[in-house]
Amino acid sequence: MPELLTLALVIPVAAAGAAVLTRRGRQRRRVYRELAERREMLIAGRGPKRQALSDPQGLRLAFERECILRVEGFLAPEGLAELREEARASRPRAERSFIPGHKKGGTLSYEAIHRHAPTCLAFYHAPALHEWLGAVVGERLRPTADHDQSSCSILYYDQPGDHIHWHYDYNFYRGRHFTVLLSLVNRSTDGGVSSGRLMQRTQAGEVIEWDTAENVLVVFEGARVFHRASPIAEGDERVMLSMTLCTDPGIHPLKELARRVKDTAYYGPRALID
Ligand SMILES: [Fe+2]
Repeated sequence: MPELLTLALVIPVAAAGAAVLTRRGRQRRRVYRELAERREMLIAGRGPKRQALSDPQGLRLAFERECILRVEGFLAPEGLAELREEARASRPRAERSFIPGHKKGGTLSYEAIHRHAPTCLAFYHAPALHEWLGAVVGERLRPTADHDQSSCSILYYDQPGDHIHWHYDYNFYRGRHFTVLLSLVNRSTDGGVSSGRLMQRTQAGEVIEWDTAENVLVVFEGARVFHRASPIAEGDERVMLSMTLCTDPGIHPLKELARRVKDTAYYGPRALID
């Protein structure tokens, strides 16, 4: 009898939960469809203002060897200023997270970028950027999924100790997956750069520090480059536009679930159902 009573309680609760999740999933799919439909209008006339870029063919060999590459002075100063202004204006909308032993910092999601940072959105979707990066990595690149909140995000390291610990950017997608970082702000109170450093540990155990001064762009294959951002100090400010590009945005349902679990470190439990 107690078992029957338990079942009589559990079944309706499970059914109600499934109905809520189904409705939520439908709503979210509609949101992403609408954002994708509005995207061309949002980014019209906001293409990146770039400096003359190095010949990608000259960089391709270096990328093939190291799986990571850094370019200084990527944007014209006014282009960088526009992105920086948007990023700073959106700081209050960033979602803060703290996972002891893993990360601490703020993140502005891809959805929020659609709503509040159109120039950053335009940068991520610029065909010329995809073409140039594609030539550097030797693959045809495209944006990752519309519902992936980390496809394009802004990372705020602006409270003492903000950091992300050693990790790979695990590749959940079917194709190869590349991380692209553009440094929008990197300052300390003494006028230098922040204490937050992008570091790579090679298979041989060597630790390499990559200079991410403002307007530096770094591209790397995150699944093959073990890296971290070291903690910032009091008064430091480090803001990075973080983008992911891939060769095939298809994803297996189980990997989609794993990707969502990973994203809870940035957006909390909502990443599981959003
Ligand atoms: Fe990473």
